[in-house]
Amino acid sequence: MNIDENMFSPNRMLSTIFLSFSLSILLCEGISYPKPHNCGIYECPSYEVVYSQKEFEIRNYTSATWLSTKDIVSKSFNDATVQGFRKVFSYITGKNKEGKRIKMTAPVLVNVVPPTDSNSDSKLVVYYYVPQEFQKKPPVSDELLPLNLPTNKLVAVRRFGGFVNDSIIGPNSEVNTLRNSLEGTTYQGKYNSSSFSVAIYNAPFEIINRVNEILLSFVD
Ligand SMILES: *[C@@H]1O[C@H](CO)[C@@H](O)[C@H](O)[C@H]1NC(C)=O
Ligand SMILES: *[C@@H]1O[C@H](CO)[C@@H](O)[C@H](O)[C@H]1NC(C)=O
Ligand SMILES: *[C@@H]1O[C@H](CO)[C@@H](O)[C@H](O)[C@H]1NC(C)=O
Repeated sequence: MNIDENMFSPNRMLSTIFLSFSLSILLCEGISYPKPHNCGIYECPSYEVVYSQKEFEIRNYTSATWLSTKDIVSKSFNDATVQGFRKVFSYITGKNKEGKRIKMTAPVLVNVVPPTDSNSDSKLVVYYYVPQEFQKKPPVSDELLPLNLPTNKLVAVRRFGGFVNDSIIGPNSEVNTLRNSLEGTTYQGKYNSSSFSVAIYNAPFEIINRVNEILLSFVD
């Protein structure tokens, strides 16, 4: 077969067109963060991406019922997260007023109010997203309180990998990186600077391809 003939064959042209079409779709979608692998296994809260660029995206979360621990006062992000998650775990494995077993969802969301000076502790709250089946009427518990989240629907999000550790509360963390990348954009100064949230999508035994996110909630 003659190469030139092949180049201009209708099939070849069609596949070239198709290829560049698929590529442009890929490039468009590639801008916002892809769905974490675990959102194919667990139910995740839904949102729309309203703006995205390389360093962050702005999401509009659908308002939904979550369960919240009481405030956990701690110096350590990890200790507080483990403490809060234990309550979530016992709740979903049946330690609730109705003795119901409920599916795990993702992410585990941790809100952090960092200390105002270096001698004080942080105030943390661990949140569990209630699956659709129980959204309207989650089983009652003394340890976890239902609430509607997010109160402010828009959030700025930065994704990162690996294991989240206690340095997330300190300076030079992913939180600061997100705040820095919002500087000079229309989103500067729009978010609540006295707290941030960390979304953890993987269980501790999942070592590779871990997905975490920092979320800064907008104040109306
Ligand atoms: C966010 O979603 C809600 C509900 O769909 C909608 O009313 C609101 O206008 C959206 N906000 C933005 C900024 O897209
Ligand atoms: C803690 O997390 C940060 C940010 O993800 C990372 O750069 C650092 O290496 C981690 N530290 C340890 C001791 O794992
Ligand atoms: C900002 O976050 C803090 C800590 O979570 C909260 O107490 C305060 O009400 C929030 N401010 C606004 C304006 O939403």
